[in-house]
Amino acid sequence: MLEDKKRYLITSALPYVNTVKHLGNLVSSLLPADILARYLRQRGEEVLAVCGTDDHGTPSEVSALEAGIPVDKFVEQMYMKQKDIYERFGLSYDLFSRTHTTENTKMTQHLFLKLHENGFIKEKEIQTLYCNNCKRDLPDRYVIGTCPNCKYEHARGDQCENCSKILDGIDLLNPKCIVCGESNTKIRSANHLFLDLDGLEGDLKKWVDSHKNWPKTTLSIANSWLKEGLRPRCISRDLEWGIPIPLEGYTDKVFYVWFDAPIGYISISMEWAKQQGNPDLWKEYWKSSDTYIINFIGKDNVPYHAITFPATLVGANDGFHLADYIKAFQWLNYEKLKFSSSQGIGIFTDTALELYPADYWRYYIMKIAPERHDTDFLWTEFRDSINGDLADTLGNFVHRTLTFINRYFDGKVPKVKKLEKIDHEILKSLKDTAEKADKELRKIEFQRALLSIFDFARECNKYFQTKKPWDDLKKDAKDRAATTLNTCIQCCRGLAILLAPYIPFSAEEIFKLLNLKESVHKQSWDSVSERIAEGHKIPKDIQTIFKKIELEDIIKLGLKWGSESIKELLVTNPQLDPRKEDKPKKVKK
Ligand code: 2FM
Ligand code: ZN
Repeated sequence: MLEDKKRYLITSALPYVNTVKHLGNLVSSLLPADILARYLRQRGEEVLAVCGTDDHGTPSEVSALEAGIPVDKFVEQMYMKQKDIYERFGLSYDLFSRTHTTENTKMTQHLFLKLHENGFIKEKEIQTLYCNNCKRDLPDRYVIGTCPNCKYEHARGDQCENCSKILDGIDLLNPKCIVCGESNTKIRSANHLFLDLDGLEGDLKKWVDSHKNWPKTTLSIANSWLKEGLRPRCISRDLEWGIPIPLEGYTDKVFYVWFDAPIGYISISMEWAKQQGNPDLWKEYWKSSDTYIINFIGKDNVPYHAITFPATLVGANDGFHLADYIKAFQWLNYEKLKFSSSQGIGIFTDTALELYPADYWRYYIMKIAPERHDTDFLWTEFRDSINGDLADTLGNFVHRTLTFINRYFDGKVPKVKKLEKIDHEILKSLKDTAEKADKELRKIEFQRALLSIFDFARECNKYFQTKKPWDDLKKDAKDRAATTLNTCIQCCRGLAILLAPYIPFSAEEIFKLLNLKESVHKQSWDSVSERIAEGHKIPKDIQTIFKKIELEDIIKLGLKWGSESIKELLVTNPQLDPRKEDKPKKVKK
């Protein structure tokens, strides 16, 4: 639940820079963060939304190695690529930066030294995995093997992708070096630095316990860590790529990526403040209790946001404000399989944009957002949602309203003569929908808000059908038809405003079709019930906003990318299978 605060700081989990992200990453942090930021801006709130790539750690080194490019160059290229994709998705961050920056180096080293000064850094000799062939240590993702918890065979040395268990390379069964691909490993000892989580456990427990309103996903994972009892966590790595450790005896090592990554939220805010010409402005967000901080993350990130990062801030005791709300999402699966970057399963954000407009993806994945439990991306359902909700419901309502105004009222918003009960009801419903969606969004419930807005769009179509302006026009009851169409165009405007956070490009298109000069993104949420003036002129040419998705196209995509839902469809409708005939038939569903 959002509290009334002076400012809102919104963070999305920083995506690893090494690969283009899939729709699962988009739905669990990047997109909901954007929707909330857009909504709050529409409410006139002061918002800072930050994100950036997570540049350090073995994922970057390993991918650069595979690409045969020096790691710094590789990371730079991939940062640009991801940034471009998110812009095309309409993600409206105040700053999308990265963690490989001077600001992040300084802040990470500063917080580490504070932790050290306060006695929360411990030194310990530990066992690490070493490759005899490559003559190197194999931290984190340099090793894969079988997960001791769920027996998944491709678990990495930092975390099992299958069961989310946080691992250590030496825990893996049958460990294999990813550089040479062999199992010629040994365990050796070295000194490393540890964040003393056990010493901070009491504070963390108190903090988690004081946030009973967090999503169940967040609370259950955080509490299971606390229940198990916190143990010191190793924050140093024997790597070259990363932020150097400023402590004697460790200057040849770097910080573990999960130590510096969340500090990126702070350093990116600092960069933003500098860009605003007020280098201290970030402090108003991070060091003031007037700010409400919300983290958006996938459930595998809960331990880092609810335990290790807050432990860093509490232990450093440097006036930093902890998150007020941690919204964790469950998994979005791809056609009953787990989305996987490493195995190329699923739809990736760059491909998605080549196939359909950003708003199609934004709409569908938020409609099925895994807010409480895992959900499935299904090609068949994607098509049904776009065609049914966006094209037939929203698009159709806007289109028929404007076409009628053009055809029968010379393209000018007609005058209201007398509002009947049904007209009052639909206008009241618009106001109620804005309030309902507002309430849900304040609870950070995206799906419920979206559903209520689309319920209203369906009501609008029903209203049009019930009032039958075409009959009134035939019956010489032009005044009644005028009232209907005036009411409809007000509803079109209201819908565009309420949907602007979810489908920003289409909402803006609706505003253009309504010939409203100011951007929809500048309209306040409360202005939904303001009226377009009578006599206001609309354009002659009313384009279709949402092009429908053909069944044959979705079948081809499902066959290309692998799809259970398409397979099932073809079992019951074999005549639709394009592989069975030279020329696929034109099919209608
Ligand atoms: O899981 C991930 O993709 C991480 N790169 C998320 C980091 S979130 C933050 F703490 F930086
Ligand atoms: Zn090796």
